[in-house]
Amino acid sequence: MANETARNIGPVILLGPPGAGKGTQSKQIVDRYGVPQISTGDLLRDHVGRGTELGLEARVIMARGELVPDELMYGIVATRLREADCQRGYVLDGFPRTAAQAGWLDAFLEKEVFEKSEKCPPVVIQLLVDYTQLLLRLTGRRSCPTCGRLYNIHFQPPLVDELCDVDGSKLVIRNDDREEVISGRLAAYETQTRRVADYYRAQRRLVAVNADRPMGDVTAQIFGVIDSHCLGGC
Ligand code: AP5
Repeated sequence: MANETARNIGPVILLGPPGAGKGTQSKQIVDRYGVPQISTGDLLRDHVGRGTELGLEARVIMARGELVPDELMYGIVATRLREADCQRGYVLDGFPRTAAQAGWLDAFLEKEVFEKSEKCPPVVIQLLVDYTQLLLRLTGRRSCPTCGRLYNIHFQPPLVDELCDVDGSKLVIRNDDREEVISGRLAAYETQTRRVADYYRAQRRLVAVNADRPMGDVTAQIFGVIDSHCLGGC
């Protein structure tokens, strides 16, 4: 197999509702192509954990399952995308999430990246999952606070109940995976983030994959999309 960790893949955007598997599949892309995962949810949770000004503002909004205002997102995304490890490409997990964020990203890439390096347009992959399956994935999700590994009590349980297989840490439930918050997050997706798919579909850049399949099947579909995208341009 060719050395996948040496070539440019450009930006990969994973779109999908909460629980679609964006974080899970991002980690597979990171492993295969050697590019970083940029999860805006993780960046925000880091600010919340450190108690920064942005974190204090975001904490209340995230606890309601609503989207953090676009203007607050642009600074943290721009700062991250300018870091050296993003030069060959990266996976965007959770961004863009509004049509305005998608327009902002296009303008940013055009100005700040394409002017400096070889053009490699984003590939936009939409993960399609049935609503009932999403609820099971979100209510069953557990994560390791030490190594970040994801589990699911329904689909990928740890070997020992509530303990990480890798380092034995006690698994945690994300604050916004409570049932009363999940409905708000899914509603925010329907009203705001679906428009992002429309935005990219209108530009013929959207590729949908069936993510209502076992993880390995979804990963294989995604790798196929990235590989054919790169053959066509990067
Ligand atoms: P964020 O952290 O981005 O959360 P999300 O989009 O709600 O997505 P999740 O992380 O819940 O799901 P996922 O698709 O990554 O699924 P996962 O792989 O974990 O955002 C949180 C909050 O931050 C937002 O509500 C908002 O307030 C704010 N925010 C973030 N970005 C923002 C932005 N750009 N603008 C404004 N606000 C923003 O999988 C879920 C579970 O399913 C796991 O247990 C996993 O093991 C399991 N699973 C995955 N794939 C499969 C499979 N194929 N089969 C069976 N189980 C599977």
